[in-house]
Amino acid sequence: MRKYPRTEKYDLRWISENWMGPHPLWLLEELCEHMALKPGMKVLDMGCGKGITSVFLAKEFGVTVFANDLWISATENLKRFEEAGVADLVFPIHAEAHALPYAEGFFDAAISIDSYQYFGTDETYFPTTYSKLVKTGGQFGIVVPGLTREFPKGYPDTLKECWDADMFSFHSKQWWQRLWEKTEIVEITACYEIEDPKEIWQPWAKWAKVNLGFNDEELLNADTNNDLALIVISGIKQHTTLAE
Ligand SMILES: C[S@@+](CC[C@H](N)C(=O)[O-])C[C@H]1O[C@@H](n2cnc3c(N)ncnc32)[C@H](O)[C@@H]1O
Repeated sequence: MRKYPRTEKYDLRWISENWMGPHPLWLLEELCEHMALKPGMKVLDMGCGKGITSVFLAKEFGVTVFANDLWISATENLKRFEEAGVADLVFPIHAEAHALPYAEGFFDAAISIDSYQYFGTDETYFPTTYSKLVKTGGQFGIVVPGLTREFPKGYPDTLKECWDADMFSFHSKQWWQRLWEKTEIVEITACYEIEDPKEIWQPWAKWAKVNLGFNDEELLNADTNNDLALIVISGIKQHTTLAE
């Protein structure tokens, strides 16, 4: 597995107390290779969970972060941001993806780690809602769990026993690229599968089995054909709407 030197500075216990999926800081560090974040930029961390990615963005890049989540309250996240010493740069917001309280064109960048698949697979979500939040010339970046290709049933036979309904949001990198590209709102700058996805997924899977009773470990073990993927997509906003 490739190294993530920025992440090494962060306490592994703090990370594992607060992660909600495959190592969010590794995924974010990988994504940030394809983004140009500069101090003072306004960044949306969409589906930030317990906000460790928001802390990372503020500390590593000096950006101002709107740490938006649904399942985790803003009050709980504020406490974490204060403890991490970044409360002046990271603002916790509790909002659902279809009812976001931001002005159009407000953000320089919108990032989403292991979250966009929960609300963003709807064909209309990007062109009608998400893309509007970012200014023209601004950046998008997501990392999502997915598959190496599309399967007729939606999943490979090897994963039949472990397949949960919400995993129908898992798609191939080509599927994701087309979802955004066909809107003509964004120029895709990166779209690929991260190498060795199981090495990134495994520490979380072990932890989640013990602490939450999740079955990610069974899922990874069942994936004998290596069809599971972690997909990175980044892009630059070209226009405000299709018509422009
Ligand atoms: C698997 S967790 C990942 C959290 C965090 N990014 C991480 O990697 O630890 C998915 C996150 O997506 C958020 N989410 C799911 N559906 C959402 C929606 N409809 N609107 C806003 N956020 C949503 C949840 O609140 C949750 O924190």
